[in-house]
Amino acid sequence: MSRKAKAVVYRELGKPVSVEEVEVLSPGPDEVMVKVAACGVCHSDLSATNGTIPMPPDTVLGHEAAGTIVEAGERVTEVKVGDRVAISWIPMCGTCRFCLMGRPALCDRPAKHGPKMPDGTSRLRDKTGKELNHFMSTAVMAEFATLHRLSVIKIDDTVPLECAALVGCAVTTGVGAVFNTAKVEPGSTVVVIGAGGVGLNAVQGAALSGARVIVAVDMADEKLEYAKIFGATHCVNPKKDGDPVDKVKKLTGGADYVFECIGLPETITQSYFMVRKGGMAVVVGIAPAGQKIELPALHLPVTEKILTGSMYGSTRPRVDFPKFLDLYKSKRLKLDELITQRYRIEDAPRAFEDMKKNARGVIVFDS
Ligand SMILES: NC(=O)c1ccc[n+]([C@@H]2O[C@H](COP(=O)([O-])OP(=O)(O)OC[C@H]3O[C@@H](n4cnc5c(N)ncnc54)[C@H](O)[C@@H]3O)[C@@H](O)[C@H]2O)c1
Ligand SMILES: [Zn+2]
Ligand SMILES: [Zn+2]
Repeated sequence: MSRKAKAVVYRELGKPVSVEEVEVLSPGPDEVMVKVAACGVCHSDLSATNGTIPMPPDTVLGHEAAGTIVEAGERVTEVKVGDRVAISWIPMCGTCRFCLMGRPALCDRPAKHGPKMPDGTSRLRDKTGKELNHFMSTAVMAEFATLHRLSVIKIDDTVPLECAALVGCAVTTGVGAVFNTAKVEPGSTVVVIGAGGVGLNAVQGAALSGARVIVAVDMADEKLEYAKIFGATHCVNPKKDGDPVDKVKKLTGGADYVFECIGLPETITQSYFMVRKGGMAVVVGIAPAGQKIELPALHLPVTEKILTGSMYGSTRPRVDFPKFLDLYKSKRLKLDELITQRYRIEDAPRAFEDMKKNARGVIVFDS
């Protein structure tokens, strides 16, 4: 059955998000309805509202959530009503060449239809009956969400849903970039530029991988304090410490790995120059569409540096989500510490504003 739900909607470019009652339509045969318990506020949600990520207005936001299945379509076999699930924002099709290569984060399907369900339709209407879009095929910053069965991953009954929510984006993106994209070896030197929700997870991924030096770079001292909790051995604030490239070179002699977790051409360029010869710079941050970086062409052959990107931590969600939650259960992955503040959905505009100071803000819903 369709349900009324409070939801966070992007209505107008550059304006604060609005909190509205929407109608969430009942799931189709391959879909489920989830009662959302918690949804993290990721910078990508903000980027959808300010044009960094091109997004049509009238879009329900949110892609980092967990909750409980309240309805399941007739063809759904992986989960059932009552199961607790974390949400994956790549509903892999399972049949394109990238899925078949074992790289579902690059699946062709999500890009095909824009901000809709994977079949190109919408399960969301506003009060006037107008169709709304689904941000990243999910739209989980809402009390209820109808999702494709491949967007939900059953999780352990003992993990708090607000922690599982963060596995849906920040953890998988940050830790996944370290484990899956770069495959950082023990003893490495690692730099993470940008110590927000994603960057802090790259820091803890590096710590779990046995990196010997982990340098966190951020303009905000409070973010650097968080980075120490997650395993940073050194902190650099370019506002106080000067050129971060020089500083990193002094600390590491050129880093083995650098993870750019902001999405600015300037810091992406810095990441390349921080890396040693033959090292790897991984761009995780999403830069505004259309922006470019410039590099000296001669450096590419002469230094053999690798400059690459990481989409959703190069994850295979069904393999990685349970792995990350197991690491949490055995107290090796920090999830509780990521949550700086909890918000009610009515306070979503403040949660977006507080992104500047939070490790992660999480919208929590009544159970
Ligand atoms: N590749 C992916 O699949 C993927 C997935 C999720 C998020 N992202 C992107 O990752 C980026 C980070 O997301 P987040 O949620 O952690 O954001 P966030 O806002 O929580 O963190 C960004 C951090 O960068 C710092 N910062 C900003 N400008 C800086 C500068 N010039 N130098 C140093 N530090 C600076 C801020 O103080 C902040 O701590 C965003 O671009 C987001 O869209 C990418
Ligand atoms: Zn995200
Ligand atoms: Zn695919």
